Amino acid sequence: MKTQAQTVSIAVVGSGYVGLVAAACFAEIGHRVICVDNDESKVRMLQAGGVPIHEEHLPELLSRHRGDRLEFTTDLRAATQAAEAIFIAVGTPQSQTGSADLSYVDAVASEIARSIDSYKVIVEKSTVPVYTNEWIRRVIERNGVSKELFDVTSNPEFLREGTAVVDFLHADRIVLGTATERAGNLLKSIYHPLTCGDYYNVPGSVPGPRESNDPPPILLTSTKAAEIIKHASNAFLATKISFINAVANVCEAAGADIEEVARGIGMDSRIGPKFLRAGVGYGGSCFPKDVAAFRNVAEQVGVDFGLLREVEKINDEQKQRFFQKIRSALWTFRAKKIGVLGLAFKGGTDDVRESPALDIVKRLVAEGCIVTAYDPAAADRCKELIPPGPCMRYVDELYAAAQDADALLILNDWEEFAELDLSKLHYTLRYPIVIDGRNLYDPETMTKNGFTYLSVGRPGLSQPIDPVAAFFVPRRRDDTRA
Ligand code: UDX
Repeated sequence: MKTQAQTVSIAVVGSGYVGLVAAACFAEIGHRVICVDNDESKVRMLQAGGVPIHEEHLPELLSRHRGDRLEFTTDLRAATQAAEAIFIAVGTPQSQTGSADLSYVDAVASEIARSIDSYKVIVEKSTVPVYTNEWIRRVIERNGVSKELFDVTSNPEFLREGTAVVDFLHADRIVLGTATERAGNLLKSIYHPLTCGDYYNVPGSVPGPRESNDPPPILLTSTKAAEIIKHASNAFLATKISFINAVANVCEAAGADIEEVARGIGMDSRIGPKFLRAGVGYGGSCFPKDVAAFRNVAEQVGVDFGLLREVEKINDEQKQRFFQKIRSALWTFRAKKIGVLGLAFKGGTDDVRESPALDIVKRLVAEGCIVTAYDPAAADRCKELIPPGPCMRYVDELYAAAQDADALLILNDWEEFAELDLSKLHYTLRYPIVIDGRNLYDPETMTKNGFTYLSVGRPGLSQPIDPVAAFFVPRRRDDTRA
């Protein structure tokens, strides 16, 4: 029976954000890992040293362990047979009804079942509705595998894109949902290098908030509780964001500053300061999908979770409101040149799934604007969805997006967007109008620097912007352009 730090043979099925990061991190803490994906070209790329996603520390972990403790394959059968624990980290996309589409999980569970030849611990890592554990168990039994040969457990992952490796290795908590001691012990031994604190003393270990005397705690739960913990965590965080966005709208109407209000709310230790940043609404591959899926799960067990409908509604409206704000500053859209900073759903990632920025850009292009966009990492992914053309240009340099633009929009929160050279920006823009969907600047500073500055939930925005005045902001004296 394993309880202490030992090398465990692990298979991770799926090489998306969660699967690839988990595989690299398990190798980093000393395990032998085979990462499986049915996408042959992706596996070839990973075998050849490629890194398919933009994620801090991931390239260094992959190059440190690839070909040694970390392998990539398309052969799920061989990986299953070699592994003691098999983590399922395949996609659970949103179906048309809003529920999670579990067909990939189902297919993987069946294939694992057909390959089992000795005791295995099967671990749900993907975000799945409550009872999925139960279903996986049934699928495996239906394929003729006896109960003694496997356990199904739940070990939800809470990593954020952009900080995924640090989130994994320096977790707030490690939730292990399991019904048997045998499976629980194997899972505990997998995470032991983290939970005993040893990893944080290893030279070259990835730095982060945890230290050897403050390692992440383990929370042992039932499998159902673990499944609900994951959905409820994401739904709660999304609720926090929609709440603060709704408060921002109150501030905007009342002439108060949401930044001051959020600081005041967040100083209450029962509430906390995180996830209280007002903006253009949440996006990404998790929150929109998981809020809908959790609402759906609740419905299926007979609970009307109306609060989550409201969370979704506020989030949709937040994008509309921001769009109206742009309109209020520009009056008309046709042939207006708009500079855009930020395409990914947040800074620090190249992921454009459910990105509020993309939504806004699409609408601007549809209304006849000429958009020039810059994002440090997401432009290539964005090009697949909005191809470059006369109305949509992508540039590799931040100020090139602002060049001669009628207004500049800030749509996500890359650090460099908060460090603009204001006089250079003023000179570069055709009209010094900045519409900031992430509140990266102090309105007073922007006004002093000659900008018409609109942001989210801050004073002065209760009055409609005077569109005429916006176009007669004095130019800089050294502006020699025609
Ligand atoms: C989220 C969860 O945080 C993570 O635990 C889970 O495993 C996956 O989903 P992620 O989607 O990577 O992670 O992004 P996150 O940093 O949580 O941000 C989600 C969205 O909310 C982004 O669009 C972000 O810009 C927005 N957001 C976040 C706000 O608008 N305000 C905030 O205060 C925080």
